[in-house]
Amino acid sequence: MKALILYSSRDGQTRSIASYIASKLQDTMSCDVINLLQADAVELDQYQQVLIGASVRYGHFHPVLEKFVKRHAEQLNRMPSAFFAVNLTARKPEKRAPQTNAYTRKFLLASPWQPKQCAVFAGALRYPRYRWFDRFMIRLIMKITGGETDTSKEVEYTDWQQVDRFAHEFRHL
Ligand SMILES: Cc1cc2nc3c(=O)[nH]c(=O)nc-3n(C[C@H](O)[C@H](O)[C@H](O)COP(=O)(O)O)c2cc1C
Repeated sequence: MKALILYSSRDGQTRSIASYIASKLQDTMSCDVINLLQADAVELDQYQQVLIGASVRYGHFHPVLEKFVKRHAEQLNRMPSAFFAVNLTARKPEKRAPQTNAYTRKFLLASPWQPKQCAVFAGALRYPRYRWFDRFMIRLIMKITGGETDTSKEVEYTDWQQVDRFAHEFRHL
Protein backbone atom coordinates (compact mmCIF):
# COMPACT_ATOMS: atom_id res chain seq x y z
CA MET A 1 0.00 0.00 0.00
CA LYS A 2 1.49 3.29 -1.10
CA ALA A 3 0.23 6.79 -0.29
CA LEU A 4 1.20 10.15 -1.72
CA ILE A 5 1.26 13.15 0.58
CA LEU A 6 1.59 16.47 -1.22
CA TYR A 7 2.00 19.77 0.56
CA SER A 8 2.12 23.46 -0.18
CA SER A 9 3.95 25.29 2.60
CA ARG A 10 5.59 28.71 2.86
CA ASP A 11 7.01 28.68 6.37
CA GLY A 12 7.19 24.95 7.04
CA GLN A 13 4.16 24.20 9.24
CA THR A 14 2.18 22.37 6.55
CA ARG A 15 5.31 20.44 5.62
CA SER A 16 5.74 19.44 9.29
CA ILE A 17 2.12 18.27 9.48
CA ALA A 18 2.51 16.30 6.23
CA SER A 19 5.68 14.60 7.53
CA TYR A 20 4.05 13.89 10.87
CA ILE A 21 1.08 12.19 9.16
CA ALA A 22 3.51 10.13 7.07
CA SER A 23 5.30 9.03 10.26
CA LYS A 24 1.95 7.98 11.78
CA LEU A 25 1.10 5.89 8.72
CA GLN A 26 4.45 4.26 8.09
CA ASP A 27 3.66 0.98 9.88
CA THR A 28 0.85 0.15 7.41
CA MET A 29 1.71 2.08 4.25
CA SER A 30 4.72 3.60 2.62
CA CYS A 31 4.35 7.33 2.00
CA ASP A 32 6.04 9.70 -0.41
CA VAL A 33 5.94 13.25 0.94
CA ILE A 34 6.41 15.74 -1.90
CA ASN A 35 6.25 19.51 -2.24
CA LEU A 36 3.43 20.49 -4.63
CA LEU A 37 5.86 22.86 -6.32
CA GLN A 38 7.93 19.84 -7.34
CA ALA A 39 5.05 17.52 -8.19
CA ASP A 40 4.86 18.07 -11.95
CA ALA A 41 6.26 14.65 -12.78
CA VAL A 42 4.31 12.77 -10.12
CA GLU A 43 2.40 9.75 -11.40
CA LEU A 44 -0.77 9.33 -9.40
CA ASP A 45 -1.41 5.81 -10.62
CA GLN A 46 1.64 4.69 -8.62
CA TYR A 47 -0.39 5.33 -5.46
CA GLN A 48 -3.48 3.88 -3.78
CA GLN A 49 -4.30 7.01 -1.72
CA VAL A 50 -3.55 10.70 -1.95
CA LEU A 51 -3.48 13.46 0.63
CA ILE A 52 -2.96 17.14 -0.16
CA GLY A 53 -2.26 19.80 2.47
CA ALA A 54 -1.94 23.52 1.88
CA SER A 55 -1.53 26.69 3.92
CA VAL A 56 -3.20 30.06 3.52
CA ARG A 57 -1.37 33.32 3.02
CA TYR A 58 -3.17 36.66 2.68
CA GLY A 59 -6.48 34.93 2.11
CA HIS A 60 -5.35 32.41 -0.50
CA PHE A 61 -3.87 28.98 -0.96
CA HIS A 62 -0.82 28.95 -3.24
CA PRO A 63 -1.93 28.93 -6.92
CA VAL A 64 -0.06 25.61 -7.38
CA LEU A 65 -2.87 23.91 -5.44
CA GLU A 66 -5.59 24.96 -7.87
CA LYS A 67 -3.34 24.15 -10.82
CA PHE A 68 -2.61 20.62 -9.60
CA VAL A 69 -6.22 19.93 -8.66
CA LYS A 70 -7.52 21.14 -12.02
CA ARG A 71 -5.03 19.00 -13.87
CA HIS A 72 -5.65 15.82 -11.87
CA ALA A 73 -9.28 16.20 -10.71
CA GLU A 74 -10.62 13.22 -12.59
CA GLN A 75 -8.03 10.82 -11.24
CA LEU A 76 -8.15 12.28 -7.73
CA ASN A 77 -11.92 11.80 -7.64
CA ARG A 78 -11.49 8.13 -8.50
CA MET A 79 -9.05 7.50 -5.61
CA PRO A 80 -9.44 7.59 -1.84
CA SER A 81 -8.25 11.15 -1.33
CA ALA A 82 -8.10 13.72 1.43
CA PHE A 83 -7.34 17.40 1.91
CA PHE A 84 -6.21 19.50 4.85
CA ALA A 85 -5.95 23.25 5.12
CA VAL A 86 -3.64 25.11 7.49
CA ASN A 87 -4.25 28.68 8.66
CA LEU A 88 -4.35 30.92 11.70
CA THR A 89 -8.07 31.63 11.56
CA ALA A 90 -8.41 28.00 12.64
CA ARG A 91 -6.73 28.80 15.98
CA LYS A 92 -10.34 29.50 17.00
CA PRO A 93 -12.04 26.09 17.39
CA GLU A 94 -15.28 27.34 15.83
CA LYS A 95 -13.34 28.16 12.61
CA ARG A 96 -11.62 24.78 12.44
CA ALA A 97 -14.12 22.79 10.36
CA PRO A 98 -14.28 22.70 6.54
CA GLN A 99 -17.68 24.39 6.58
CA THR A 100 -16.80 27.08 9.13
CA ASN A 101 -13.34 27.92 7.78
CA ALA A 102 -13.99 30.42 4.97
CA TYR A 103 -10.86 29.55 2.93
CA THR A 104 -11.62 25.83 3.01
CA ARG A 105 -15.32 26.21 2.33
CA LYS A 106 -14.56 28.44 -0.66
CA PHE A 107 -11.95 26.00 -1.96
CA LEU A 108 -14.29 23.02 -1.71
CA LEU A 109 -17.13 24.89 -3.38
CA ALA A 110 -15.00 25.81 -6.40
CA SER A 111 -12.92 22.64 -6.63
CA PRO A 112 -13.50 20.03 -9.34
CA TRP A 113 -11.86 17.63 -6.89
CA GLN A 114 -14.07 16.54 -4.00
CA PRO A 115 -11.86 14.85 -1.40
CA LYS A 116 -13.48 12.10 0.63
CA GLN A 117 -11.92 13.41 3.85
CA CYS A 118 -11.20 17.02 4.75
CA ALA A 119 -9.87 18.86 7.80
CA VAL A 120 -8.67 22.27 8.87
CA PHE A 121 -5.68 22.58 11.18
CA ALA A 122 -4.51 25.64 13.07
CA GLY A 123 -1.07 26.74 11.93
CA ALA A 124 1.80 28.52 13.62
CA LEU A 125 2.54 32.17 14.28
CA ARG A 126 6.26 32.85 14.13
CA TYR A 127 6.77 36.61 14.25
CA PRO A 128 10.60 36.62 14.53
CA ARG A 129 10.89 34.70 11.25
CA TYR A 130 8.73 37.07 9.17
CA ARG A 131 9.95 39.94 7.05
CA TRP A 132 9.02 43.31 8.57
CA PHE A 133 6.05 43.87 6.25
CA ASP A 134 4.54 40.45 6.95
CA ARG A 135 5.20 40.89 10.68
CA PHE A 136 3.43 44.25 10.58
CA MET A 137 0.46 42.87 8.64
CA ILE A 138 0.04 39.72 10.73
CA ARG A 139 0.25 41.75 13.93
CA LEU A 140 -2.46 44.05 12.60
CA ILE A 141 -4.70 41.08 11.77
CA MET A 142 -3.98 39.55 15.19
CA LYS A 143 -4.88 42.81 16.88
CA ILE A 144 -8.18 43.03 15.00
CA THR A 145 -9.06 39.39 15.69
CA GLY A 146 -7.95 39.29 19.34
CA GLY A 147 -4.80 37.18 18.84
CA GLU A 148 -1.17 37.32 19.98
CA THR A 149 0.48 40.68 19.25
CA ASP A 150 3.87 40.23 20.96
CA THR A 151 6.23 40.13 17.98
CA SER A 152 9.00 38.41 19.96
CA LYS A 153 6.85 35.26 20.18
CA GLU A 154 6.53 32.03 18.23
CA VAL A 155 3.25 30.22 18.90
CA GLU A 156 2.23 26.85 17.49
CA TYR A 157 -1.56 26.45 17.52
CA THR A 158 -1.66 23.10 15.71
CA ASP A 159 -3.66 20.52 17.68
CA TRP A 160 -1.53 17.42 17.12
CA GLN A 161 -4.22 15.14 18.57
CA GLN A 162 -6.57 16.39 15.86
CA VAL A 163 -3.84 15.55 13.33
CA ASP A 164 -3.53 12.05 14.89
CA ARG A 165 -7.27 11.47 14.48
CA PHE A 166 -7.09 12.68 10.89
CA ALA A 167 -4.19 10.32 10.11
CA HIS A 168 -6.11 7.43 11.66
CA GLU A 169 -9.15 8.20 9.49
CA PHE A 170 -7.00 8.57 6.38
CA ARG A 171 -5.52 5.16 6.98
CA HIS A 172 -9.02 3.65 6.76
CA LEU A 173 -10.33 5.70 3.81
C1 LIG B 1 2.45 36.56 5.39
C2 LIG B 1 1.42 35.67 6.01
C3 LIG B 1 0.09 35.78 5.65
C4 LIG B 1 -0.89 34.98 6.26
N1 LIG B 1 -2.20 35.14 5.90
C5 LIG B 1 -3.15 34.41 6.55
C6 LIG B 1 -4.53 34.59 6.24
O1 LIG B 1 -4.91 35.36 5.36
N2 LIG B 1 -5.44 33.89 6.96
C7 LIG B 1 -5.06 33.01 7.95
O2 LIG B 1 -5.94 32.42 8.58
N3 LIG B 1 -3.76 32.79 8.23
C8 LIG B 1 -2.82 33.47 7.55
N4 LIG B 1 -1.48 33.27 7.83
C9 LIG B 1 -1.12 32.23 8.80
C10 LIG B 1 -0.57 30.98 8.12
O3 LIG B 1 -1.57 30.31 7.42
C11 LIG B 1 0.04 30.11 9.21
O4 LIG B 1 1.16 30.78 9.74
C12 LIG B 1 0.44 28.73 8.73
O5 LIG B 1 0.98 28.00 9.81
C13 LIG B 1 1.46 28.80 7.60
O6 LIG B 1 1.71 27.51 7.13
P1 LIG B 1 3.06 27.19 6.34
O7 LIG B 1 4.18 27.41 7.32
O8 LIG B 1 2.93 25.78 5.94
O9 LIG B 1 3.11 28.14 5.19
C14 LIG B 1 -0.51 34.05 7.24
C15 LIG B 1 0.85 33.93 7.59
C16 LIG B 1 1.80 34.73 7.00
C17 LIG B 1 3.24 34.59 7.40
